[in-house]
Amino acid sequence: MDKNIKQKLEQAGQDQVLRFWDQLTSAEQSQLASQLQALDLVQIQQLVDEYVLHRPQLHIPSDIKAAQVYPYRAQTPEHKTLYAQAHQQGLNLLKDGKVGAFLVAGGQGTRLGYEGPKGEYPVTPISKKPLFQVFAEQLLAHSHEAGKAIAWYIMTSDINDGPTRAFFQKHNFFGYDASAVFFFPQGMMPAFGLDGKMLLASRNSLALSPDGHGGSLRALHRSGALADMRRRGIEHLSYFQVDNPIVHTIDPLFLGLHDLSGSEMSSKTIAKAHALEKVGNFCVADGKLQVIEYSDLPEHLAKQTNPDGSLKFNAGSIAIHALRVSFVERLNEGGQLHLPWHRAEKKVNYINDAGQLVKPDKPNAIKLEQFVFDAIPLAANPIVYETDRSEEFSPVKNAEGVDSPHTSRRDQIHRHARWLRSCGCDIPAKGDEIDATIEISPLYAANETQFRRKHTQVRHIKPGEHVYIE
Ligand code: UTP
Repeated sequence: MDKNIKQKLEQAGQDQVLRFWDQLTSAEQSQLASQLQALDLVQIQQLVDEYVLHRPQLHIPSDIKAAQVYPYRAQTPEHKTLYAQAHQQGLNLLKDGKVGAFLVAGGQGTRLGYEGPKGEYPVTPISKKPLFQVFAEQLLAHSHEAGKAIAWYIMTSDINDGPTRAFFQKHNFFGYDASAVFFFPQGMMPAFGLDGKMLLASRNSLALSPDGHGGSLRALHRSGALADMRRRGIEHLSYFQVDNPIVHTIDPLFLGLHDLSGSEMSSKTIAKAHALEKVGNFCVADGKLQVIEYSDLPEHLAKQTNPDGSLKFNAGSIAIHALRVSFVERLNEGGQLHLPWHRAEKKVNYINDAGQLVKPDKPNAIKLEQFVFDAIPLAANPIVYETDRSEEFSPVKNAEGVDSPHTSRRDQIHRHARWLRSCGCDIPAKGDEIDATIEISPLYAANETQFRRKHTQVRHIKPGEHVYIE
């Protein structure tokens, strides 16, 4: 063992992770040593003190207001002019190659329970395309329209990096130019016992998990992705998550609004389904735009209404952002990403002193994660733009019930039925459900505007029909 690491572990009070060291083979020793080398042990010591041994005091701002939101459809003449300009600006940015796509896919997807990277999950109603393919094809559709390749940054984690790369290789990158795809793993954080000690998952391995989607902002810097963007002349990132097959991976209007507003970090929002929906809320607190988690927004505020009965705090966060590359660079100045950490009590399997694997039946550990939306209050001129839930938000989180493959398939069919109806096609329905299975390939059209431009022949759909438009 490198004396330096041993000493640092002792100073941080964490040398218990070496208790099986002498029984390990040299290959096992190097595995553990490389995990330890990747950690900033001084920072770990501070985090244990601040977040593990103590519960950080939650700062509830005294003055919480609803955030100003750009509406989904421009109503006023001013907004109509602005949106037309913004749309054109977004198209120009794409044509000039100034936009990169940024997919965060480092999560563990435990709720879905799929073995392997979540992006492999077959999600579309007819062709069963995996999530990764849906995004690749959308991005291709936008690249073709812009006449310029869109560089695609994909964040993985140490757990799914190899399988993710292999999946893309196996499928020939779904037609994407491999040289325009940049994979990089995010940072990992050890799980701590309630006594603040790092847990071992095996004798030669820490119990590590990804450091949260906020860790993406550090990983972009450490991996060289930011430097790659500078080389390619990319100024903005279109950020989206792996679990939402109807996300608009690229939205020229949103990107244009973001750029014209001089915003460093912009966000999309949807109207909440009800006052206490479990989504973060865009608010202005202490004079700063920020996301307040549903569990932290006082209930009396969450339930407040406007004179017309609508919710005052109605702007739900759906984890779609636009980021300036210069902002992400600024956040990493000085080598540290200054975002807060969030503590969660979890069940984590670990090795006890006798070297036996323990599978706890109640939370035994603290995991620490950073959240990407915590960067919003640090950004200059941040804006929030509304989108429509049925057009853009139907994540696959759970194996069953809400936000599951079943609900997402239904929402994909509804969206595509709407696009067809807007071209004059009759679509059969039974009550609220579409009585047909419809899928539109993103290569045919990535959004309604592209669809209407292309789909000029009206063909009505029959009850029970399976229609795949490609
Ligand atoms: P979730 O919050 O749904 O977490 O991630 P998860 O880990 O994927 O799933 P569960 O909670 O275990 O079921 C939202 C998005 O953020 C990414 C995920 O890949 C997903 O796109 N994410 C999350 C990361 O990239 N890294 C992380 O450390 C956490």
